[in-house]
Amino acid sequence: STTHFGLYGLGTMGSALSLNIAEKGYGLHVASFVAEDTDKFLARADCLGDAFTGHRSLADMVKSMPSPRAIILLVPAGQAVDDSITEAQPYLQPGDVIIDAGNANFHDTRRRATMLEKQGLAYLGMGVSGGEHGARTGPAMMVGGTEAVWNGVRPMLEAIAADFQGEPCVDRVGPDGAGHFVKTVHNGIEYADMQLIAEAYGLMRHGAGWSTTQIADLFDDWNKGVLKSYLMEISATVLRTHDPDSGQPFVDLIVDSAGQKGTGRWTAIEALTQGVSVSTIEAAVGARVWSADRNGRATGAALFAQPRAKVDLDPAVLHQAVLATRIVCHSQGFDLLQAASCEFDWAMDLARCAEIWRAGCIIRSDLLDEIATALRGRDRDDTLAFCPEFADELALCLPALRQIVTTAIAAAQPVPVMMAALGWLDAMSQARGTADLIQGQRDFFGRHGVARVDKPGVFHGPWSDGT
Ligand code: 6PG
Repeated sequence: STTHFGLYGLGTMGSALSLNIAEKGYGLHVASFVAEDTDKFLARADCLGDAFTGHRSLADMVKSMPSPRAIILLVPAGQAVDDSITEAQPYLQPGDVIIDAGNANFHDTRRRATMLEKQGLAYLGMGVSGGEHGARTGPAMMVGGTEAVWNGVRPMLEAIAADFQGEPCVDRVGPDGAGHFVKTVHNGIEYADMQLIAEAYGLMRHGAGWSTTQIADLFDDWNKGVLKSYLMEISATVLRTHDPDSGQPFVDLIVDSAGQKGTGRWTAIEALTQGVSVSTIEAAVGARVWSADRNGRATGAALFAQPRAKVDLDPAVLHQAVLATRIVCHSQGFDLLQAASCEFDWAMDLARCAEIWRAGCIIRSDLLDEIATALRGRDRDDTLAFCPEFADELALCLPALRQIVTTAIAAAQPVPVMMAALGWLDAMSQARGTADLIQGQRDFFGRHGVARVDKPGVFHGPWSDGT
């Protein structure tokens, strides 16, 4: 029998997703935490209004829906999800499914899926990307759950998803928390790419003294080639916007203090938990944290302000540096997906994740199409950056990245994400590094043992005073 859909939470994302679902010909039961929000939503729904059945509460909605039911939650991540489950659960029957379409922490999703599955209920953790516009016109969606449950809701989700050359940007990427994990890593890459673009902007604006319009023109130019991406496009648009009252570039009126709801941070936390380093994403999270400490920066400015030499920038060199960094941050993100897939036994199809990200989501870009092709074709689990498709490009761009980072350092312009990318590339291209000394230190103070290059086994150094 056909699934009946209900959606709870008519905020920005919930409203937009509801209209999208209705437009694709599905009837939808709707409810919100505040009953009046449902009335307001229905009043605004215009010609799509007939598709909706409004309810006063989540419990009312679930009770009055026929089975089998799929209840989509679009409530803030955290306690609100648990509260919604508690409210709906008494009225649910085997065969019904709850779909959490918020930005949940995947550990929570795993816990909730296990709890509900014990009671015969199904749970899907679904990452949704694309902001309000994406939700309305076609988001990218990453689903975690069982095959059977996914297949039950698949036609509806494929109908509302973004389309990349005829393929819907939605799929099941693994069981339980896999979907929310993939969305978390998407956001980590989003943080790094946003910071990267901001670093390029900083060098041009504060270093070279270019105008916002000149920078917007360059970003528009870049957006016609290998750096084509949604974030590049909107960065140009933001820089081109002027305040209607003062006529100033609007960006100059925005407080330089970035917010974060947590997903980028989770990416870094999870990477470190799994013994993987996503240094570009860690750097981007750190940069947001520093940006938010405005008082600290004011104090630092008074204490350490450096003479800021004017930067002489070659846009073609900067372009290569940005491309190299973008490749590295995606590569680190995919390395993390791979590590998590092993750790949690998700058997994740990494190429499929890249394919889902080619349209609808915030990090959509031409690079992701190349990444999808590279991952489809690779026969070894090498880091993405070392795939032939990217290794040549990186080798070509590496001198430019070094030149830009050097220029930035000399001019006291912070470029933490570019520096992290360069640091990773330099470390990963040293066949013999400096961890020999680290191992010597560890053995000296803790008798941890060392491996030798000249014979097999575990040894201790002939230290004279190894206490
Ligand atoms: C998306 C975005 C979105 C993001 C919010 C807030 O893919 O549509 O990633 O889901 O979570 O825009 O992000 P921050 O507040 O953490 O920047």
